[in-house]
Amino acid sequence: MKTPVYIIEEKRLRHNLALIREVACRTDSEWILAFKAFALWKTFPIFREYISSTTASSLSEARLAFDKFGAKAHTYSPAYKDDEFDAIVACSSHLTFNSLSQYERFHERAKACSLGLRINPEYSEVETLLYNPCAPGTRFGVTADKLPEQLPQDIRGFHCHCHCESGSDVFERSLQHIEEKFSKWFPQLEWINFGGGHLVTRKDYDIERLVRLMQDFHQRYPHLKVIFEPGSAFAWQTGPLVASVVDIVEDKGIRTAILDVSFTCHMPDCLEMPYYPEVRGAEHIEHSPLTIDHFPCGESTSQSTDASVYNVQWLYRLGGNSCLSGDWMGYWQFDHELEIGEQIIFEDMIHYTTVKTNTFNGITHPSIAMQHSDGSLELLRCFTYEDYRDRMD
Ligand SMILES: Cc1ncc(COP(=O)(O)O)c(C=O)c1O
Repeated sequence: MKTPVYIIEEKRLRHNLALIREVACRTDSEWILAFKAFALWKTFPIFREYISSTTASSLSEARLAFDKFGAKAHTYSPAYKDDEFDAIVACSSHLTFNSLSQYERFHERAKACSLGLRINPEYSEVETLLYNPCAPGTRFGVTADKLPEQLPQDIRGFHCHCHCESGSDVFERSLQHIEEKFSKWFPQLEWINFGGGHLVTRKDYDIERLVRLMQDFHQRYPHLKVIFEPGSAFAWQTGPLVASVVDIVEDKGIRTAILDVSFTCHMPDCLEMPYYPEVRGAEHIEHSPLTIDHFPCGESTSQSTDASVYNVQWLYRLGGNSCLSGDWMGYWQFDHELEIGEQIIFEDMIHYTTVKTNTFNGITHPSIAMQHSDGSLELLRCFTYEDYRDRMD
């Protein structure tokens, strides 16, 4: 198989979709796919067997929902633009405003949609600021003190997003805050959207707790339709990014395997979060036993691990093939000496990758393939020089 390539595995995808459909049924709620995490539209026919809608946050995503998913989107954007708004309305069943000023400006033009307002519960347990939508100064949502007693009569729903790869224990605490601050408006609503970040497909997710929470919620507010819009949960652990070693270099005792992929181009969350991806057949070493160490985000650490525990001969940084100095991550302990041409498999590389990749440095974008349930591999897309060129045409 020619690398690099993202391989989405149909079996694992169907496993997630079946689980999400069951959770939707048991919680009496609608679960829709957030395109921001995953939008490989050639897989949409499979999604349609399990779910019936998606959520968009831009004109292009809304169009994709309509054109390729075949259903109007639940759309939310931090700020709609005048010249795009009518096209967004045409592709949306639900439309959420981020602020009262956006509502005032646009609501008359969105009569065909069920309108919502994004609320800010001022509570989020997400520790990484980059992913915390409720951090002080946030640009997302309206706080309770700014809402009028009587909502505008065409507002039908509230939208609230404050999770990231969270469990139902976190949702239980968020829900308390949401209800404390906003339940007085619930009688005026028809629906509530609890956003994304509900990682129901992670092995340790406590689904029974979510079922209990939702049963109680429905008892308290039987008139409210509940919507969840995760992205990651759908594509969680549905396939790897397969790369190859192109060269091995060494400086100050640090050995780097340079790959035919790039963290900054093809796995941006690794650098942004930052988090260390799982590499098949290798163990990630948290603190390097080598003397010189720094993290790509610029933070330095003096902690190191006893070198004798590791076979430093087979300890590697993995480096991207871009010219960005920080396009590397380390360290991984392999059980053999890496060779040029051998494959390096990054696990769980389907969500928040293909939607965020770029062609910085003109580096070849990994192909996208699907491994079908019968084991056959279908190449969905290859990228060429023309793709790079035409983006800047
Ligand atoms: C408004 C909104 N909805 C849904 C999602 C999807 O979240 P996740 O992929 O973590 O489930 C996000 C992610 O940022 C979001 O901002």
